[in-house]
Amino acid sequence: MYVCVCNAVTERHIDQAVRDGATSLRELRERLGVAGCCGRCATCARDCLRSALEERTTVATPAPFGFVPSYSLSAEAI
Ligand code: FES
Repeated sequence: MYVCVCNAVTERHIDQAVRDGATSLRELRERLGVAGCCGRCATCARDCLRSALEERTTVATPAPFGFVPSYSLSAEAI
């Protein structure tokens, strides 16, 4: 989905920018130009940024030391 029409920025661009270290709307503006023209995309871009940051935090959180999952996935289950 296009987030910023003025600069042809999509959610994927924002996700990639977050993976590359962006953590604020200001950084998205500097890297991608988001909200740098008309500014109508600022709210949507901020929501996408927040979502990408939450996803990154969830994925990057390691399991507690000594944690052993009590389940196993077989190839058939996937
Ligand atoms: S839609 Fe993003 S600056 Fe205009």
